Amino acid sequence: MCGIIGYIGERPACEVIVKGLKRLEYRGYDSAGIVTGDEEALHIRKGAGRIDELVERLKLLELPGKRGIGHTRWATHGVPNDINAHPHTDCSGKVALVHNGIIENYAEIREELLAKGHRFKSDTDTEVIAHLIEEELKSSESFEEAMRKALLKLKGSFALGIIYAEEPDRLYFVRNESPLVLGIGDGENFAASDVPAFLEYTNRVIFLDDGEYAVVGKDFYVIKKLATGEVVEKPVDESGWTLEMAEKSGYPHFMLKEIHEQPRAIRDAIHGNIDAVKKAAGEIARYEKIFVVAMGTSYHAGLVGKYIFQRLAKRIPIVEEASEFRYEFEDLIDEDTLVIAITQSGETADTLAAMKLAKKKGAKVLAIVNVVGSMATRIADLTLYTHAGPEIGVAATKTYTTQLTVLTMLAIELARVLGTTSEERLKELEEGLREVPELVEEVLRHDAALRELAENLVNKRDFFYIGRGISVPTAMEGALKLKEISYIHAEGLSAGELKHGPLALLEEGVPVVAVAPSGKTLDKLIGNIEEAKARGALTIALGSSEALKRVADTLIEMPPVDELLSPMPYIVPLQLLAYHLAVLRGNDPDKPRNLAKSVTVE
Ligand code: F6R
Repeated sequence: MCGIIGYIGERPACEVIVKGLKRLEYRGYDSAGIVTGDEEALHIRKGAGRIDELVERLKLLELPGKRGIGHTRWATHGVPNDINAHPHTDCSGKVALVHNGIIENYAEIREELLAKGHRFKSDTDTEVIAHLIEEELKSSESFEEAMRKALLKLKGSFALGIIYAEEPDRLYFVRNESPLVLGIGDGENFAASDVPAFLEYTNRVIFLDDGEYAVVGKDFYVIKKLATGEVVEKPVDESGWTLEMAEKSGYPHFMLKEIHEQPRAIRDAIHGNIDAVKKAAGEIARYEKIFVVAMGTSYHAGLVGKYIFQRLAKRIPIVEEASEFRYEFEDLIDEDTLVIAITQSGETADTLAAMKLAKKKGAKVLAIVNVVGSMATRIADLTLYTHAGPEIGVAATKTYTTQLTVLTMLAIELARVLGTTSEERLKELEEGLREVPELVEEVLRHDAALRELAENLVNKRDFFYIGRGISVPTAMEGALKLKEISYIHAEGLSAGELKHGPLALLEEGVPVVAVAPSGKTLDKLIGNIEEAKARGALTIALGSSEALKRVADTLIEMPPVDELLSPMPYIVPLQLLAYHLAVLRGNDPDKPRNLAKSVTVE
């Protein structure tokens, strides 16, 4: 759960690396460090804290050299402190490296190396790699050979950037189950965990595959197989991402920018998937046993997808958190099973493990992913991309609404193949979907009103979000957004559940937010809002029905929309409400405490 960047060329490496680290901070931000190399030696500076603070404190921009690697960390082994920050070195200080991933067998390797006289400085799993390479150097003809021999002894996941003091013309980058992409420049080259880190300099990229490493100089690169050392030819792709897309574009936070990007993102998701969903629907039509696996916000997207699939395609998917699926459903997966994995990052450890299990059991695996070239896309039999562009804010926003877009398109197409819903209804939904970006634009105009509402709610300690049917996942997602960035306790639940327990928690002034699109259960939901109000709750409703005006203390007027498409516009005010509450409470919504964007550990 860390970010890596490497550079070799003619520029001061520290400048490129610091910029790259800032763009990678979303991958982890408890500590950071840089190593650069010149003809003389390696120069390392690292510490706990955010990049901006470390640039000042450690004078990172004064590091000499035109080649180097940097790292931003989210601790997995060893507390976040100066010593555990990357880069890590061997005893001689000639080998330095940064790592994203987890070395599973580090404890036994460490024991062996300690017995051979190596001295360890940190508590990390990463440091063993540097010492292991140092050990292998004793019996190898080249650094590259030593590196390969060492890495073949590791179990676990790793993306690595490696620098060796005695080879001033090159850097090494390795990928195994953690992402790594090369950036190909003119007289300079880059490598990073993610494209935005070097997008300012080049959009020409090569995605490394698992078990591959690259030897990179300023005018050359060679990609080889870790197992054999054999050279691999790989195409250079052009990334469709622009720097504009990867920066804040004038918004105070990435999250706000990403909320406002949703109309564009949904349009892109529609355009990017018209043919892809047709193909996918054809391939999955035969499966009656369907699981949807995901975590967090992606799981909520799966729950919405369930309603759409069952209403249109008359298929009832079982939607499970990937972390549960792996342990509970193993015996039920076979060649007649379809597993749909939803993951923004394509890196979530539990989701990847669930996908691997499904593959092992012979199931068909379809992934809905945002990050191109990510691990999930490599495991899946087929992938649908959400085309949302890079999402830097830790809280998922535009990737959620684009996941919903893709799921809706897939369900429509599947219903068409299966003949389970009339063509007229499917056409109506397709038309409605094309209008969703405009509806979202309309909802975004409530931004100022939502900020005002947030000002009145800023001191509340508990929130309840309620909905019925397809709006239950919207209520859950609204509550999740609030929890993760404002640190206010919130629950999202089906309105029908209220009086079976949670109603006991309602006191004077507790906000109850009702997600109330027009549809077959609106009357019932209005009854639930009244029940909450009778217990003193402060009721806030999202909807377009006149009836809501009578019951809710505050109504956020929503444009009329087909109930099946409502989860897309209806989540937007809840994202904005959470955002404003977070900012008003002095939190950084882009970097909520204790959380990281990609959860690459189980
Ligand atoms: C919440 C959030 C997380 C992710 C979850 C899964 O805003 O972002 O709950 O949705 O960690 O991540 P992906 O979709 O990358 O698998």
